[in-house]
Amino acid sequence: MSELLIQGGRFLTGETTVQGAKNSILPILAAAILTGDTVELEHCPRLRDVDSAVRILEALGCTADWRGDTLTVDTRGLDRCTVSDELMRLMRSSSVFLGPLLSRCGAAELSYPGGCELGPRPIDLHLSGLRQLGAEIRESGGMLHCQASRLHGCELLLAIPSVGATENLMLAACGAEGVTVISNAAREPEIEDLQNFLTTCGADIRGAGTSTITVQGGRTLHGGTYRCMPDRIVTATYLCAAAAAGGLIFLRGAQEQQLATVTAVLRQAGCDICADSAGIACRCEERLRGVQPVRTAPYPGFPTDAQAVVMAALARSRGTTVFEENIFENRYRHVDELCRMGADIRVSGRTAVVTGVERLSGASVRSTDLRGGAALCVAALGAAGETRISGLHHIDRGYEDMARDLTALGAQVTRI
Ligand code: EPU
Repeated sequence: MSELLIQGGRFLTGETTVQGAKNSILPILAAAILTGDTVELEHCPRLRDVDSAVRILEALGCTADWRGDTLTVDTRGLDRCTVSDELMRLMRSSSVFLGPLLSRCGAAELSYPGGCELGPRPIDLHLSGLRQLGAEIRESGGMLHCQASRLHGCELLLAIPSVGATENLMLAACGAEGVTVISNAAREPEIEDLQNFLTTCGADIRGAGTSTITVQGGRTLHGGTYRCMPDRIVTATYLCAAAAAGGLIFLRGAQEQQLATVTAVLRQAGCDICADSAGIACRCEERLRGVQPVRTAPYPGFPTDAQAVVMAALARSRGTTVFEENIFENRYRHVDELCRMGADIRVSGRTAVVTGVERLSGASVRSTDLRGGAALCVAALGAAGETRISGLHHIDRGYEDMARDLTALGAQVTRI
């Protein structure tokens, strides 16, 4: 079992290039199925979740090939529409294969994704939208049996702006006859990235990034080459690393406009952040200050995925900060581990109160989930002494090489 050893208390200086966005590339890999052709994905992050998506594509009869950071997926040979329970369990977001499989094959059989480390992850909105588009879906023995001899466009209203449901329905709607309008759609930048990919492949979709997305279905898609957006949560993680340890860093390729709520919090805490077309620079020389309450919300609100890393940076601040987690039920599992390092954080329901302490100390801690694991790295950089982090399989789901990137930023990190 690998572990990360981090020597804290070093001022960070350096630069790294931000990887492509995990939450863009996963739906894009599912979308490749719709093209029935070859797609070339440049700047594709090499992650455990991307490997899982590739394994699903291969199990369906597609092929995939890496050349440097370009992943080429050939979906011409797709001849199955069943994803095994074992593959479905590798990654919660595997449900995004449902829409494209239904659209291309008229059928799909997948196991139900179930709960995960963040709490229940229902897909009721995905299923009800697909039913309205004309799919017949039977649930039995933990499996979803879906059939659709033809899908037809319609008006869909999401009860909440779910990212996954918006993506799944956009993908299914590409293969439906006529126009589909998705209202109360999620507005996350990754959805705009998915629209841009689909447009490159010949789809007619408008409105991603707003609450209303319109898909003119039934067009024949073709392959293409696409470069996905930089990962905004990886960017937030490394900004928090500099905020926690003190530092002067540059994140090449990072974009601030998709991260404005996070940079606003870090500026309020005392970081000096400047962005231009080349990337984002962050300087932080003083101990951070506590900030106004941080409430997670769907985009353009504060991202739930950045809650843990920002909390870790503020654990050593002057003053108190209140966090409110409004997206997932169980997203404070990093708190106990931060407290092992000396943090003072009290959780009650969806609220966590962080009373900044002067000093955190290195300890042996365990990642409990992807972003929680990243938060432990952030805290370790600002802690006195050595921190040993286990449970790296969580971190590897979303960070290409945390040790490589933090080392480039001047941290002393070893993976053993
Ligand atoms: N929800 C329902 N019913 C549904 C779908 C969602 O009740 O049919 C609920 C969920 O249980 C949750 C909330 O709606 O409480 C939001 O879920 P959403 O569908 O928006 O999230 P997701 O698509 O499952 C994506 C990201 C997550 C990110 C969330 C919120 C991917 C692959 N995953 O998940 O990323 O936290 O949106 O922004 O895009 C991560 O990268 O660490 C991660 C967890």
